[in-house]
Amino acid sequence: MGEVSIRLDDLPLRDDLRGLTPYGAPQAPLPVALNVNENTHPVPQEVADDILDAVALALRDVNRYPDREFTELREGFADYLGYGVTREQIWAANGSNEVLQHVLQAFGGPGRTAFGFAPTYSMYPLLTRATGATWVAGSRAADFSVDAESAAFQVAEAGADVVFLCAPNNPTGTPMTLEVIEAVYDASRGIVVVDEAYQEFAPRDAGSALALLPGRERLVVSRTMSKAFAFAGARVGYMAADPALVDALRLVRLPYHLSSLTQAAATAALRHASTMLQMVDEIVAQRDRIGATVEAIGYEPYDSWANFVLFGGVEDSAETWQALYDRGVLVRDVGIPHHLRVTAGTEQETTAFLDALASIDSGS
Ligand SMILES: Cc1ncc(COP(=O)(O)O)c(C=O)c1O
Repeated sequence: MGEVSIRLDDLPLRDDLRGLTPYGAPQAPLPVALNVNENTHPVPQEVADDILDAVALALRDVNRYPDREFTELREGFADYLGYGVTREQIWAANGSNEVLQHVLQAFGGPGRTAFGFAPTYSMYPLLTRATGATWVAGSRAADFSVDAESAAFQVAEAGADVVFLCAPNNPTGTPMTLEVIEAVYDASRGIVVVDEAYQEFAPRDAGSALALLPGRERLVVSRTMSKAFAFAGARVGYMAADPALVDALRLVRLPYHLSSLTQAAATAALRHASTMLQMVDEIVAQRDRIGATVEAIGYEPYDSWANFVLFGGVEDSAETWQALYDRGVLVRDVGIPHHLRVTAGTEQETTAFLDALASIDSGS
């Protein structure tokens, strides 16, 4: 048992899934893991204690199915987001990946298309294809920005059913202005998802697309607890949109998709939002330190509003990735030639990365 008896190609797999590669960022047990944009700071002890109490309480009723509408959690997210967002506008799932999957299941699917400005979050094409839709990649300027005119032109041309705007963009860190988002919305006919997974790391006065929700019934603003909230392992993502759009997602979700333990943990964590978010400033400081230092040693970092930095000027990305790996530091080769991406970790982790990089002689 457990031996591989046939190959994937021999199974009656859907034709449109043949040849695809699953998401597979390495999970190597290295001392300094900075490759998947996690918050590397642990949850503060006092919050962990409160979450534990909430989960213990939920366990007493775990013989029953959870609240299918995760009412208390939705209220918590609405309070946290502000901008006048109400509980009826909130949806949540097991990570924002599942939120995005729900959107694609409801509004994408066979015969439909989804669009995004490449390079962007690698799961958009995978989720799109898994629902049977076709992925259409738009383009960015050389510095990875997109201006309103080009964005609107490309989106109108594509005529996609779902448009993904990653703001700030992964893997480049590039911000996107509300002006661009408005222009894309006006030029589109389908659902426009603004993925604000990294919004908490943007400057405090940077606007959120949440401000654009009133009167835009095809707009979705997606967020996650995986990054700023240091809650990646709990798998909690959420979004805000028109209540009618949220209703559409009830058609595709699995019944009781958010477990009572997840709901209890996330609700308790949200009660401590300010404590959970207290490391954000520290992470932003490390991000800016990475930008300044990699530039000083001869690489070309891009401005980032997220918790990571993409840098170019790498002679051979695979070689530098391996050299860092051999020094105990895991970063991400995102497939852009001569570039690597690194997550801003704790001060010590960031120092370990910068020292390791400085000890490798491969800046071009
Ligand atoms: C832009 C973006 N959106 C969504 C996600 C998924 O986050 P999660 O499913 O953990 O909420 C990520 C994770 O890296 C991301 O970079």
